[in-house]
Amino acid sequence: MFITFEGIDGSGKSVHSKLLFNYLKKKHVKVILVREPGGTKIAEQIRNILLDKKNKEIFDMTEVLLFLAARSQLVHEKIKPALKKKYWVVCDRYVDSTIAYQVYGKGLKFNDIKKINNIATNNLMPDITFFLDAFNIKYINFQDRIEIRNYNSYKKIYDGYKKIARENPKRFFTIDTKCKRYVAHENILKVIDIFLKNKQNKK
Ligand code: TYD
Repeated sequence: MFITFEGIDGSGKSVHSKLLFNYLKKKHVKVILVREPGGTKIAEQIRNILLDKKNKEIFDMTEVLLFLAARSQLVHEKIKPALKKKYWVVCDRYVDSTIAYQVYGKGLKFNDIKKINNIATNNLMPDITFFLDAFNIKYINFQDRIEIRNYNSYKKIYDGYKKIARENPKRFFTIDTKCKRYVAHENILKVIDIFLKNKQNKK
């Protein structure tokens, strides 16, 4: 299984991906946890370029190609080999981040980005995507270049995510993360337990 977490900055992705990773380990599922941009030595170096506050002159297309370069490295170096060895993969952000941030947030062309997403990932799509639904811009601490945005651009990204979720109902599960953390975690586990049961039945 390939599981991704999506949502705007501050929606709880890193917490919930870690909680799910720990839960799966406890259930003796072979699993790895990775994040984007990053997750490999080369991709972490690309991440540093992307998040560096000094890199103000970066063009939107340069930026998206760097995200995709990092993704390509992560997919080929870690995700595909893990899935081949029957590991589950939990990934904090993936292709939908690029659609939400670069297409709906920055206005790049959907078809172009979809095409290069497919090229970078060799068409590898997640089995499950959790969209963490929270719009708490006041909790974002504006530390890096990418996080320096205003309310309107976050709203565009958030609405973009909701549109992607509506258009991909089979893969997407929307989880309200405005409630208590353990409640949101339990709602994630309700989805996961169905897949775990299917796996056990197949044995
Ligand atoms: P990060 O510090 O990892 O933020 P978060 O914890 O919210 O994931 O920074 C990643 C930033 O990069 C985040 O603001 C989202 C943005 N991003 C894109 O704009 N496009 C992408 O394709 C990806 C993967 C991330």
